[in-house]
Amino acid sequence: MVFEGRGYWRGKITDFEFGVDAEGIITRVGKSVRGSPRKNLGDLLVLPSGIDLHAHFRDPGPTDSVENFDSGTVSAALGGISAAVDMPNTVPPTTTADRVVDKIARIRARAHIDILPYAALTGASSVRRLGHVAAGFKLFLAPTTGDLKVPETSEIPTLLEEVRASGLPLHVHAEDPAKFNPRESPTETDAWDRLRPAAAELAAIERLSSPPPGLRIHIAHVTTAAAADRARELGAGSEATPHHLLLSSSVFGTAFQKVNPPLRAESVRKELWERFRTGRIPMLASDHAPHSISLKEEPFAEAPSGVPGIETMMPLMLELVRRGDLPLQVLVRAIARHPALHLGLPRGALEPGCEANFLTLDFRAPRALRARNLSARCGWTPFEGRSAIFPVDHYVRGNRIVEDGEFVGSGHGRALRATPLPPPLPKS
Ligand code: NCD
Ligand code: ZN
Ligand code: ZN
Repeated sequence: MVFEGRGYWRGKITDFEFGVDAEGIITRVGKSVRGSPRKNLGDLLVLPSGIDLHAHFRDPGPTDSVENFDSGTVSAALGGISAAVDMPNTVPPTTTADRVVDKIARIRARAHIDILPYAALTGASSVRRLGHVAAGFKLFLAPTTGDLKVPETSEIPTLLEEVRASGLPLHVHAEDPAKFNPRESPTETDAWDRLRPAAAELAAIERLSSPPPGLRIHIAHVTTAAAADRARELGAGSEATPHHLLLSSSVFGTAFQKVNPPLRAESVRKELWERFRTGRIPMLASDHAPHSISLKEEPFAEAPSGVPGIETMMPLMLELVRRGDLPLQVLVRAIARHPALHLGLPRGALEPGCEANFLTLDFRAPRALRARNLSARCGWTPFEGRSAIFPVDHYVRGNRIVEDGEFVGSGHGRALRATPLPPPLPKS
């Protein structure tokens, strides 16, 4: 199949054509590509689809859970995401090889986009076995949603060394509980920010300051410019989330904006946005963490932390592109190319050898986000009322899974792993 259209190619918007083989891989791209059948994508803008490095699909989970791989990947597809990293703080948590294998079976049974099941790093003895099946590793340095054990400080160097030997990437929830300010009972988001302050995030990043050479470290959900800068200095990757980039603790206050790490003050948010807008935070990720409305309506101190976001991340950012507030190139790199390079996957660009995963967009049609119009099963969004641009169509490996804003796919998701890096050569 040859697609003809106008889209983002090699950093610019241009008229182009690309050929896709029977496996859904792009074979040729250029001003004019021969072959048939042909499909003209009209005057819509073509972009590579997104990769979300951070999502909580809650599968396995309790039967009344607000999410699973079926519902979560429909939301992802509608939001322009064609692959996502699944986090291990499920019920039960992904701490053994058998549980990773069970997750892979769940992904194959009901995911509609590709999923990378990550394992939790809780003890050094399990890393080797996990490294054969998991897509990558997640280290929680502070307690958050779920029941995962936070490793002792003294164990961390061994854990890092074991992950390095696996060749897989390590994503870190970086907050240092020693820097938390225990309070009786926080009642709004400002108090949550004081309880788990930005200093705790920086301190946790500092704890990773001499990683074994060759270990791919990625700092999840950075909330301050300083944290992003420090990650960069250490040679680590980092991601910012739409909620930390667009919402602040000073404006919103209820448990529906309670998240770990917390939303920060407006001045801190603006500085984070500036780093992101200028391409100095390499990646964007949703930290999609759906919770039911009834749990979020509990008193602030008891309500769980986390906000949904996989369906709205790219549409919100595309609207900022339309307004001229965010360069398209920065967005495509942060949501597609850099995550693909980080994971070592042939995706995230419309280039030969990459999967034909792409969106068509109508920049004349922004619309107000309404939870009732989203597919998200949790039934709410922290971005209610904001303007967004949703994909018209979404193609994965050359097949349309979203048509005119409606999900039309069915179970084409694969379980993927990050490509392991080879061990360093011995120094002779
Ligand atoms: C996440 C969740 O609910 O799973 N919550 C959150 O506040 N971000 C866990 C996490 O990423 O810390
Ligand atoms: Zn986290
Ligand atoms: Zn998370």
